[in-house]
Amino acid sequence: MKKVTWLAAALCAAAAANAEETLWTKYQHWEVMPVLTEDPEAGNNVRQQMDFTKPWHGPWLINPSTTGMTVGMITRIRVGAAIEWREKGTENWTRRWNATCGTIDYSEDVHLFHLQGLKPGTTYEYRFVTAMSGLETAYTGIVVGREMYTFTTMDPKREKYRVWATADFHGGARLNLDPMYERTEASTADFYLLLGDNVEDRFASDAMFYITYGYMDDVCRLWGKAKPTVFVRGNHDASGQHIGQWGRFQGHPSGHNYFSFTQGPVLWVALDTNREWQNSPAGTEQMKAYQQEQLDWLRALKKTDEWKRAKYRIVCNHFGWPADIGESPNLGADIAKELNDVTPEGRIHLFLAGHTHVYTRHDPGAAELKAFPAGKPNKKGVLPPPYASKEDLTQYKYCQVIGRQCETLTLDVSPEKIVVRSRDWRKPGLPDYDKFELYPDGSVKDLK
Ligand SMILES: [Fe+2]
Repeated sequence: MKKVTWLAAALCAAAAANAEETLWTKYQHWEVMPVLTEDPEAGNNVRQQMDFTKPWHGPWLINPSTTGMTVGMITRIRVGAAIEWREKGTENWTRRWNATCGTIDYSEDVHLFHLQGLKPGTTYEYRFVTAMSGLETAYTGIVVGREMYTFTTMDPKREKYRVWATADFHGGARLNLDPMYERTEASTADFYLLLGDNVEDRFASDAMFYITYGYMDDVCRLWGKAKPTVFVRGNHDASGQHIGQWGRFQGHPSGHNYFSFTQGPVLWVALDTNREWQNSPAGTEQMKAYQQEQLDWLRALKKTDEWKRAKYRIVCNHFGWPADIGESPNLGADIAKELNDVTPEGRIHLFLAGHTHVYTRHDPGAAELKAFPAGKPNKKGVLPPPYASKEDLTQYKYCQVIGRQCETLTLDVSPEKIVVRSRDWRKPGLPDYDKFELYPDGSVKDLK
């Protein structure tokens, strides 16, 4: 939603709910200072001043696939950086420096490593290596990191697993992400979906500040070092002076921000439609070109074996169609049409989105929306119904769920069905907002 005070709203909501039960017993605050490290072998183990192998922010894992993973981290200063990885249980590390045109890049403090050619469903260990240029210091030794991390690649044979999804916490992670995570068994998920508007406001003139302190540090503290996250880009994540820096922190090896991957019976598709780039003729021109690229990519994806083999296809995007009814500037009318395919080999089973801050579920072709949180309209008066005609609703032949602000959605995947559950983590007993089963033929069964 286009409003700069969503975090304030989230914090006020927290205070109101706090009257019922104390959920908020901690929050994250940011300070940069030396950390006292107790060590009987301190004389031997004190770190070199030029040791930058322990990330200042991160590491984070993105772009998961059956054969790849992107690892990101930020060092305290600009430095040459490499990643080392090996299959868990093996001895030898493979090392790769971040290089530009053949030379180590000493000019970056944000380091992304796109690992490819990995084995599916395999656990890897990884660590970082740093070095300074001889043009900057006499201390040019290679420093190998002491901290070791792991990740596991996606597995087409993994039949049962959980995914945890949230949306629109607008920088409130430092207060809300811990109780959301702890109360909804999020630690049991294989990976995580953040459906956009993760930053409090927008990238303004300091993307690193808004990304790290807005959500990345909290994500990494809770799960992000060991399990991947799909960061779908919301309108707030895609606006501000530093709009062009998203890829520096969360880029995909394709150079685009839309992608797909398979885990077990599900093909997961992340789209990147947006509207914030229409602030100039050039921006509008590029947005239309990018939307066309995605449409072409989606059409090609539907012809692949990966798409056809998938028992379920789940598409994630910040905008769902309630924000698009009418001229459909955000999702893109052609993309929406492409998704609205009723053939067994073409259909999608679920569309996950955020943005409106109000939970809604629409079953395939239904004339009404379900699972409103006994609610009031949001500030735009968009919900609850009627906000769309019956014809508008019935035209959509796939299930769509739009998460509310600070959503806590679990998806328990199995070949027979996917159980989707939204719970109110703020209330005692965590009452269900919604619960339903999704089947391979695209049908839905209400459990609430
Ligand atoms: Fe939004």
